[in-house]
Amino acid sequence: MNTSRVIRVLAGTLIGLVIAVGIVWWQIDSASRMVPSPAAAVGGPFTLTDHTGKTVTDADFRDRSLLIYFGYTFCPDVCPTELATMARALDELGPAADKVVPLFISVDPKRDTVAHMADYVALFHPRLVGLTGTPEQVAAVAKAYRVYYAKAGDTSGDDYLMDHSSFVYWMGPDGKFVAVFPAGTTAVQMAEKLRAGPF
Ligand code: NI
Repeated sequence: MNTSRVIRVLAGTLIGLVIAVGIVWWQIDSASRMVPSPAAAVGGPFTLTDHTGKTVTDADFRDRSLLIYFGYTFCPDVCPTELATMARALDELGPAADKVVPLFISVDPKRDTVAHMADYVALFHPRLVGLTGTPEQVAAVAKAYRVYYAKAGDTSGDDYLMDHSSFVYWMGPDGKFVAVFPAGTTAVQMAEKLRAGPF
């Protein structure tokens, strides 16, 4: 691990922490002031392409809970770890998991083609839905979920890395934000929290 990589990982972690603290602060702050929670503003409409090539919108998933992770298939470490945790949490949850749709949204649409997404999601869970889109569509959904992402390292060719925030978002069947699981949450912890619903 070279120095620039360490700095990048630390910077990514720091950005993640700032976002997590921000979300918690919104919740505490809004609860104490009895105003609508800005955390409720996490999420929103999106139009993307799934790993079968079909155009999908947020409305297609209404009436089911969503677990959403933003990342990219070339990610060497964090994304595979978090997607594996998400998949294990669904296994832990048992039959109730049928009402939860796991989504993986790419922040690297340039390399994450539909075909590439199809190969990738199959590695983690049979029901994991991979979503990619145009750079504009990805930017819009990332903004709605307050996801940070940027190219990193040597960006001259196609071997670049992506810095990105790493959270699993839980959206309720009404499409509204329920909770966020920070990186490092275990599958058991995630399943325990999910078990209480809403589904
Ligand atoms: Ni990643």
